[in-house]
Amino acid sequence: MHAKDSAPWWRSAVIYQIYIRSFADGDGDGVGDIAGIRSRLPYLRDLGVDAVWITPWYPSPMVDAGYDVADYTGIDPVFGTVAGAEEFIGEAHDHGLRVILDIVPNHTSDKHAWFEAALAGGPGSPERGRYVFRTGKGASGELPPNDWQGMFGGSAWTRVPDGEWYLHLFAEAQPDLNWENTEVRRDFEKVLAFWFDRGVDGFRIDVAHGLIKQEGLPDVGESGDVLEPTKREDHPHWDRDGVHEIFREWRKVADRYDGERIFTAEAWVSGPKRLARYVRPDELQTAFNFDYLRAPWEAAKLREVIDSSLEALGEVGAPATWVLSNHDVVRHVTRYGRAHTEGRGPRADETAPLDLDMGRRRARAAALLMLALPGGAYVYQGEELGLAEVEDIPEDQLQDPVWERSGHTSRGRDGCRVPIPWSGDAPPFGFGPDGAATWLPQPEIWKDLTVEAESGDPASMLELYRAALRLRREHPALGEGDLHWEETPEGVLLFSRTPGFVCAVNLSGAPYTLPAHTGVLLASGPVEGGALPGDTAVWLAV
Ligand code: GLC
Repeated sequence: MHAKDSAPWWRSAVIYQIYIRSFADGDGDGVGDIAGIRSRLPYLRDLGVDAVWITPWYPSPMVDAGYDVADYTGIDPVFGTVAGAEEFIGEAHDHGLRVILDIVPNHTSDKHAWFEAALAGGPGSPERGRYVFRTGKGASGELPPNDWQGMFGGSAWTRVPDGEWYLHLFAEAQPDLNWENTEVRRDFEKVLAFWFDRGVDGFRIDVAHGLIKQEGLPDVGESGDVLEPTKREDHPHWDRDGVHEIFREWRKVADRYDGERIFTAEAWVSGPKRLARYVRPDELQTAFNFDYLRAPWEAAKLREVIDSSLEALGEVGAPATWVLSNHDVVRHVTRYGRAHTEGRGPRADETAPLDLDMGRRRARAAALLMLALPGGAYVYQGEELGLAEVEDIPEDQLQDPVWERSGHTSRGRDGCRVPIPWSGDAPPFGFGPDGAATWLPQPEIWKDLTVEAESGDPASMLELYRAALRLRREHPALGEGDLHWEETPEGVLLFSRTPGFVCAVNLSGAPYTLPAHTGVLLASGPVEGGALPGDTAVWLAV
């Protein structure tokens, strides 16, 4: 047995992100659901991923697509029932797939019973102590308590009829919880146990870096892009030391269960060293590597992020993870199809020229790079089909709160959340029963990008992902472990892994002559006469 077979599963897992609203619709209401996921479990098993992460499925007014939770231990009727969720968890396990849920501890919905009690309880009540209520500034408290901005635009404060203000780092309908409150802490530990008892294998922690706010709630004092991770280490509401104590307690809850239950942090922090603090041995097991997602399609920058990630995470004994897309960023086929490839995507820049062929070529190469790196990886539904961002959703159909809250200056994240295409020539492309309108419209051109159309086509993105995931499982060099960089000309990444594996990625404009090898395991594009064209990656046996 190779070492990788005995290491805990999460150290090299490929986790598939199911954005539940848009994965598969079992009941024909145009919104994805648990029945839909259950019907597609064989697809996920055959794709070759190890686990699925399901975005929030709890009862919610859906102001922020489910990230406004009204009850952490229920299932929204649009998605199914708790009994259906339990059956799904069992079936996923039968298919060899682990199940990660999304937990949203930074804020609740304003329709959560806790918040309704806080409003009814009035100023100074213990119920209000669960949230962050303050009196305003100005002669009659008519100004917000401080200068904090909400992530979706506008002030982070809203005033209630009795005159107090409450904090919401996201939409008005997402009041921030007060994590200094011990009842809040105990209640969330019960929520974790509720789902662990039902067999889930872990949680992705939403806004993990936001739970603790600086005492006194001082002004941030800077403007700038609120969606950019802060560079400060003393930011009043991001990445404060106090969050780690919470996660140490959560880890103790997970460790009471058998079978390696895990957490993964969504923490937008300043660099790998800060990120590594979340995955110290007694804290969370893994965290998303957004520096990797945000890195431009440039060899030197990618190598820098890879090295600094491996180093910082290695120091605390945590595996690296790699991610290219999720439900909050522009799909990487589109990011890589523009001249400026750095960052989470130019939402406001949709008019910059787009070369989708180039974007797809790079996305194919990027997949082979990501899946060859040491550690785990995330695949966002539809990336395995090569879907691009949908940038022409009619304005009157946009749903993301960002669109309204930005005063219609940012279209928001709907373009990466369109229901994915499974089969057929016309919408809904097998997403749901024929004739059912999807909650966001699908582009006609997706007829060529359905699972059905791509299956069996050796040139398709889907077959590339299937082949890469299959090789990754079989090859003893892949998954956890080390890599060794080899000499290359500028613009080429070349590393070897033992035993007998080399990955080469050409990000330069010129063809690159491959080093000596005994066979081509997999290539993202044509490799002829031993030369690797630009924007192409290859896995070699050596
Ligand atoms: C996270 C989620 C995002 C959501 C926000 C507020 O960043 O990924 O979709 O809007 O948290 O919960």
